[in-house]
Amino acid sequence: MYKLAVFGNPIEHSLSPTIHAMFAQQTGVNVKYTKELAPIDAFTQTANNFIQQGGLGFNITVPFKIDAFNFATQRTRNAQTAGAVNTIKVEGNTCIGENTDGVGLVNDLTKNLGIDLRDKVILILGSGGATRGILLPLLEQNPTRVMIANRTASKATTLANDFSEYGKTCGFGLEKIKSKPVDIIINATSASLDGKMLTIPNGVANGAICYDLMYGKITPFMTWAKVNNASMVIDGLGMLVEQAAAAFEFWTGKQPNTRSIIDTIRARS
Ligand code: ATR
Repeated sequence: MYKLAVFGNPIEHSLSPTIHAMFAQQTGVNVKYTKELAPIDAFTQTANNFIQQGGLGFNITVPFKIDAFNFATQRTRNAQTAGAVNTIKVEGNTCIGENTDGVGLVNDLTKNLGIDLRDKVILILGSGGATRGILLPLLEQNPTRVMIANRTASKATTLANDFSEYGKTCGFGLEKIKSKPVDIIINATSASLDGKMLTIPNGVANGAICYDLMYGKITPFMTWAKVNNASMVIDGLGMLVEQAAAAFEFWTGKQPNTRSIIDTIRARS
């Protein structure tokens, strides 16, 4: 039996146990996946306790992804470039840290939504941990360019420089966004949490595929995209399920079929 969990604070609203229970049922793998509230200052102790009790792997969500990066004794390339870990696999005394967020986004865009990212111009809004987590898998799809725009311009230019070895990147302040349409806009800011829309030119959304990493409600970004003639407006539910599927495969070697699970969860919410 795979003893698995998700650690976060808060954690009560996490959909991960539901998603992994569906994966387990579908693939026939024996899994017990729980949600664990870790005290803000005691991630390491909570994770160690779980491992001592036979835990074979766990997901990590806000605010512990950097703690999990430090906890890992080995890291995958994705985790290393993301600077954060959302999945740990326990193998004896080794804890392998992985980051499946970016792969989850790319799989949702390419497999579920049928969007080819090759030769596309992508604009990412925001330069926090969420952006860092998705940049490498996006650049590996060979887009023409990934532009990163942020309220604090210096953070965008730093990120663009950090990732320039993997593809064509550039970074600038939100006020520098041109009114010219791009192919894909990804909202990776936390502005939606405050119910706010960023001040950016409306024209950039015209005909664009607009993707918000948030899920669970229609965000101000999604409303703005729709009003400004986006060709597609998508929330982050598919990414949530895809990052979970990548973690499930990392632990068990079994690849779940995500399509029906995304549909089921969407219908429930
Ligand atoms: P996460 O780990 O979710 O990415 P984060 O590291 O705190 O969270 O980053 C939040 C991102 O949202 C940042 O890019 C932040 O911009 P700043 O770097 O200028 O702080 C952006 N953000 C949050 N609220 C915003 C708002 N009201 N308007 C514009 N950008 C906002």
